[in-house]
Amino acid sequence: MSTSYKKPSALSGKPTKSYEPGAKVEGGIPLCVPEMGGNEWAYIKDCLDTGWVSSVGSYVNRFEDEIAEKIGVKYAIACVNGTAALHIALLVAGVEPDDEVLMPSLTFIAPANAVRYAGAWPVFIDSEPEYWQMDPALTADFLDNQCDWSDGTLRNKSTGRRVKAILPVHVGGHPVDMDAINAAAHKYDLPVIEDATESLGATYKGRMTGRLGEIACLSFNGNKVITSGGGGMIVTDDEQMAAKARYLTTQAKDDAVEYIHHEIGYNYRLTNIQAAMGCAQLELLDEYLVAKRRIAANYREAFESVPGIAPMPQAEWAESTFWLYTVLVDEAVYGMDSRALLRKLGERKIQARPLWQPIHLSKAHADSPRADCPVAERLNRMALSIPSSVGLTAAEQAAVIEAIRG
Ligand SMILES: Cc1ncc(COP(=O)(O)O)c(C=O)c1O
Repeated sequence: MSTSYKKPSALSGKPTKSYEPGAKVEGGIPLCVPEMGGNEWAYIKDCLDTGWVSSVGSYVNRFEDEIAEKIGVKYAIACVNGTAALHIALLVAGVEPDDEVLMPSLTFIAPANAVRYAGAWPVFIDSEPEYWQMDPALTADFLDNQCDWSDGTLRNKSTGRRVKAILPVHVGGHPVDMDAINAAAHKYDLPVIEDATESLGATYKGRMTGRLGEIACLSFNGNKVITSGGGGMIVTDDEQMAAKARYLTTQAKDDAVEYIHHEIGYNYRLTNIQAAMGCAQLELLDEYLVAKRRIAANYREAFESVPGIAPMPQAEWAESTFWLYTVLVDEAVYGMDSRALLRKLGERKIQARPLWQPIHLSKAHADSPRADCPVAERLNRMALSIPSSVGLTAAEQAAVIEAIRG
């Protein structure tokens, strides 16, 4: 089946737009937009032609199998989005109402919301300053010194609530130091639920994120490295967790003929149309990761010589996806802060964005245990995400660099 798509210029290395330094960029440069480079039309058309458009169909199975193979896990369960995947992962990991779940403060709010959907409470841990991830030392310190361990149950001394799981998020596509997180978790028999929604394709000590804890979640939202329009996936090696996740995401149906249900379930299954798009995008993942990493390398090279602009870090034990390329702006050295730079880029129609408000400061989670997270707050003040679409052209990237250098 033929498609009318052209190869994105960033991938072929041929810029499509001419660029004069200092000139405004016509139409603007978006932060991070999807790239449709392959069989998306063909596979979606196949769904329409065959009538398999809803939540069962061969593309759903194929997407699950191919994601499981890519990550190197036994089971994958497709969901409507990454937030739903997190909700279910928490439930199948045994998180119950009034439990507590440790997670980073500096992340998109979805994992904290998912913890609340499960009736549990997020406990916010500060970031480490080097790679901006959930701090494993603070995590271990919290478990060792702020909790009581007796009869196989860990309780937060200040709230009296059971601490039930750890939910590290690979922020920005850079892996968390998972050996340290797992060591802290396993000391108290806590499951680790990885939020790998930003890190599909990232590796930690040579292993894919998504297979580093007991269970993990992915997202195929439009701004992720690959997208199914909207979508998510639960991945795990644990047969029981996988079976329970499949059951809960499909309305917890115990008898498919008589429609008997023993539990409250959820309509969280991905549609075949979305899975079809996901399959087409997954074929492009490796190519897109190369593009993301090339964009990151170009930014690094350019910003290393700009006083006050710190390029995005990458640990020697990690290979990041550089999902959203983010710099730190040191106002005292650069001469303006990250928000002023955001406005300056905006004047040139270059879209930029701060990192998220640390969730320990969010009104939405004001009832959760309070915590001091000074590193998360500093990173939030200094960080600015800049255009990093897979299809960013060389000319567009040069325009962004020039605007920041200028
Ligand atoms: C860290 C993180 N967790 C969860 C999600 C939720 O994924 P979704 O938008 O597919 O629900 C996102 C992004 O959207 C995210 O960045």
